[in-house]
Amino acid sequence: MIATETRRDVRQQLLTDIIRNRRSVYADDYTNEPIPEAIIREVLTNATWAPTYKMTQPWRFIVLQGNQRKPFGEFLAEYYRERLNETVFTRERYERAKAYPERAACMVVLIMRRNDKIDIKEWEELAAVCCAVQNMALTCEAYDIGAYWDSCDACVEYAARFGLESNEQCLGFFYMGYYDKATYSSPKRRTPIDKKVTWLY
Ligand SMILES: Cc1cc2nc3c(=O)[nH]c(=O)nc-3n(C[C@H](O)[C@H](O)[C@H](O)COP(=O)(O)O)c2cc1C
Repeated sequence: MIATETRRDVRQQLLTDIIRNRRSVYADDYTNEPIPEAIIREVLTNATWAPTYKMTQPWRFIVLQGNQRKPFGEFLAEYYRERLNETVFTRERYERAKAYPERAACMVVLIMRRNDKIDIKEWEELAAVCCAVQNMALTCEAYDIGAYWDSCDACVEYAARFGLESNEQCLGFFYMGYYDKATYSSPKRRTPIDKKVTWLY
């Protein structure tokens, strides 16, 4: 039997490793490998274990995969073509946007669903959904799956076609896909805590 101290050490190291190695990995870096549904379910189940004030569990998810990806790519390409100058949004960028969602194994539509019966501030509900999304990101990291939260207006607008109710708001898409972890590196660093923390005694 593993000693309590050893177990604690292993858990602490694993958690720190998962938190600090998690990176936003974008769909350009995904391979074509599908993600088994059991793993997607695990990611979403862990989302629901996020803390939630008054247990409102203010979230709902829609998983877009397979044939659902292509129409979103077409929407994305047209969305930016209509809004950006063609010298900025070139033919190359148009084609890239069109193909982009199909690079993902799936995209999860993130929906905040407010509870109209319980008196709770909107930011508290929003914060709970953010906790849920972080659980998803950390679970993906544990499974060596690349993921990131895309909060672009195009995602939010596209989600309207899924029949959101008046108490629901799309917060973007959570992209997921396997990637080559061995060759991937992210330049993003963090500001040391000494610049962010005030200690009062
Ligand atoms: C609420 C939220 C919304 C985000 N929206 C976008 C987005 O629309 N597009 C994007 O490229 N990245 C988006 N990101 C990812 C951030 O750019 C990324 O987390 C940040 O650059 C830090 O990099 P890291 O996640 O690899 O540590 C979002 C992240 C959060 C938390």
